[in-house]
Amino acid sequence: MPHFDTLILGAGAAGLFCGAKVAARGRRVMILDHARKPAEKIRISGGGRCNFTHLDTRPEAFISDNRHFAKSALARFKPTDFCQLMNQHGLSWEEKAAGQLFCEQKSGAIIQMLLDELAAYGGHLQLSTHITDVRHTGKHYQIDNDSACFTAQSLAIATGGRSVPKMGASGLAYDLAQQFGHSIVPTRPALVPFTFSGVYKELFSDLSGVSAPVLARAETGPDFQDQILFTHRGLSGPAILQISSYWKETEPITLNLLPELQAEAVLKNARTDQPNRPVRQALSAHLPLRLTEKLSQITRLPFDQRLGEVSNKRLSHMSSGLHDLSLLPTGTEGWRTAEVTAGGVATQALSSSSMESRLQPGLFFIGECVDVTGWLGGYNFQWAWASGAAAGAVA
Ligand code: FDA
Repeated sequence: MPHFDTLILGAGAAGLFCGAKVAARGRRVMILDHARKPAEKIRISGGGRCNFTHLDTRPEAFISDNRHFAKSALARFKPTDFCQLMNQHGLSWEEKAAGQLFCEQKSGAIIQMLLDELAAYGGHLQLSTHITDVRHTGKHYQIDNDSACFTAQSLAIATGGRSVPKMGASGLAYDLAQQFGHSIVPTRPALVPFTFSGVYKELFSDLSGVSAPVLARAETGPDFQDQILFTHRGLSGPAILQISSYWKETEPITLNLLPELQAEAVLKNARTDQPNRPVRQALSAHLPLRLTEKLSQITRLPFDQRLGEVSNKRLSHMSSGLHDLSLLPTGTEGWRTAEVTAGGVATQALSSSSMESRLQPGLFFIGECVDVTGWLGGYNFQWAWASGAAAGAVA
């Protein structure tokens, strides 16, 4: 029966990084994963260039029932620490949007870097392994797979969240957490497009491919100023993905379609200059043409009317319709396309400095399975590195 100092379940971002840290301390480590290839989510992330961190990583960019939990790990492993490692491996990056760092080589180069780090310190990795049982014997952890049985002093769970099941996501981390007495903050798809039904589905489908800069907000959570994208099923784009992490079913979302302008002033000036134009045409310099053509149906306000026929009161209504457009999503595209899982292993029974269970010594939870969910922009990988490093220092 092979014995290790530390076993890690899941060879994704958190598991591989943690494994390398554990191995660097001279500990014998084995990482087990059921997938045929490691870290597939790194490979597809950032359009194949992995948005591996955000320079402005701060606790407010993470959603959790305990907003203080992530602070300690994030403070001890910074975005620049990961950049330093990339430098050592000859990898470079590009800051695409403010603070968002993307690998200039392909995402696969980051996976190779993590595998090289693990191998350099003698860490082991076994893929295509189906885990059938996990238990603590009273003496050590014992993991059975279909062909072997492994034992170890420490066990780190890094099997990620529920998002994108076709890439190997499973609920194993939550099942194991509950098996060892931990509670789970209910999970929900996050960083996910919204779906709409009925007339809005048709309208948005007609606009499919159109994007526009907006200020978006859910009932709770901050405003996000970024692009929305109309899709065949509803709304997507970075502004929508960000607010989806805060959205709760049956709640409306609010869009400001002209975040940089005073719509009322724009429309009043246009009415003076060209009273015969339809109201929507006065907006064509500020919004995509295809969107202006659907404004009457989307806002249920008469944007097709001539400017000269619109009273001040109605103009003011129409301005509010543009700045404060309330929409009721039917749902989200769900686990199939969600980039991450909100909720997860509740943090109150975990140490914020080491990620170790307070209920079961030697058991650790890291990465996406923990109830810590980052905004879009590299924050989720930074959490995977930081929580992996925190556990890797002691596991
Ligand atoms: P991760 O999911 O990476 O790894 C879990 C591992 O456990 C997998 O290898 C899986 O096969 C294995 N596993 C699962 N169940 C198992 C079981 N039962 N038995 C054995 N093994 C099991 N974030 C970001 O910061 N920047 C970005 O650019 C992107 N882009 C992005 C694009 C897309 C399409 C997605 C879906 C997600 C992103 N993300 C992202 C989010 C990011 O990928 C995610 O937060 C991290 O991969 C989480 O790392 P973990 O190691 O926790 O889980």
